[in-house]
Amino acid sequence: MTKTRVPVYADNAATSFPKPPEVMETITAVLRQTSLSPGRSAHKYSLAASRIIFDTREALAELFNCVDSSRIAFTCNVTEALNVGIFGLRGSILQPGDHVITTALEHNSVMRPLRYLQQIDNITLSILPIDDNGEVLTSELPRLLRDNTKLIVANHVSNVTGAVTDIEAIGRQKGNAFFLVDAAQSAGVFPIDVDAMQIDMLAFTGHKSLLGPTGSGGFYLRKGHDLQPLKRGGTGSNSEMEQQPDFMPDIFEAGTPNTLGIAGLGAGVDFVMRTGLNTIKKHEQHLCRLFCEGLTQFRGVTVYGPPVSRNRAAVISLRLDGKTESEVAQRLDREHNVLVRSGLHCAPGAHQAIGTFPDGTVRFSFGFFNTEADVTACLQALKDISDD
Ligand code: ALA
Repeated sequence: MTKTRVPVYADNAATSFPKPPEVMETITAVLRQTSLSPGRSAHKYSLAASRIIFDTREALAELFNCVDSSRIAFTCNVTEALNVGIFGLRGSILQPGDHVITTALEHNSVMRPLRYLQQIDNITLSILPIDDNGEVLTSELPRLLRDNTKLIVANHVSNVTGAVTDIEAIGRQKGNAFFLVDAAQSAGVFPIDVDAMQIDMLAFTGHKSLLGPTGSGGFYLRKGHDLQPLKRGGTGSNSEMEQQPDFMPDIFEAGTPNTLGIAGLGAGVDFVMRTGLNTIKKHEQHLCRLFCEGLTQFRGVTVYGPPVSRNRAAVISLRLDGKTESEVAQRLDREHNVLVRSGLHCAPGAHQAIGTFPDGTVRFSFGFFNTEADVTACLQALKDISDD
């Protein structure tokens, strides 16, 4: 039995670990040096907090190639951002009975709001299927589009298989539909250009590959789209009015924001930009290749998702013959100090699409701070379990 002394963390699709030292230092320094209420009071601590929020907004705008950083609004995670998009369209862009298209690889943060809209607004839903590589068949989009298709929601990178969806191809073919992209697994690794990809709204989380803390996230919203906010309240702006401001980002940012989380997110985004997306992607794809090539030496293992020859993320789902997914994940943790996630990964539809529903898979997900030695430890641990 191989048991590494320090845990090998291979659950970066759930949340990245560790965070860059700058993220931890920034959070500690901010907490020590200033109060955390931006845009409310006129004193120097409040101004310093406003500066933190502004700088993070600017960094994200640069990362996503968005000219005007006020088009970025903060939320507490990507689920909230996706809910703002899906429910914010109700009554304006999206009317009862309208048609929505999504993909077979969505997370419940998209599917549950859409299923609810089917219930309350009688929307009709079409699902773009996947091909033999496990990638979304974007060429099917023209066939699914209807006159009343008002919304297309697509996951950029699958949290189950690491498959990358060709967002640019959807953007090119979307017609007049509002295009909402879930970048939970891609932001911070894969290049995203909201203009070139014709994205109307991009939802992101702070705590995965953007390397910030949990409780941070947000979205980009293209100018010209009016969405209803999910919440209304104090913004520090237009305080004489009892109506919610109608301008970005204040319309979506009622209540004192998570200044500490946003500070950490800003440090994470700075780290990503300084390191370079290409360097991050290359390293993660190298680890993914090593792991998948190692798995080809095993008997009794089934790997799901795109082959390593594809442009894909380092999220690898597998099953071992004769072992349940939860048993494998538990033994990896308890006997080998290897930390992964098993089951359905909050994406039952994706598991249906790849044929692993309802049991799910064992998922390894590597991040920028994983090493080749981590991959070797994962392979050795799996081998020990599968030989048992
Ligand atoms: N959506 C996250 C995951 O895939 C939490 O694990």
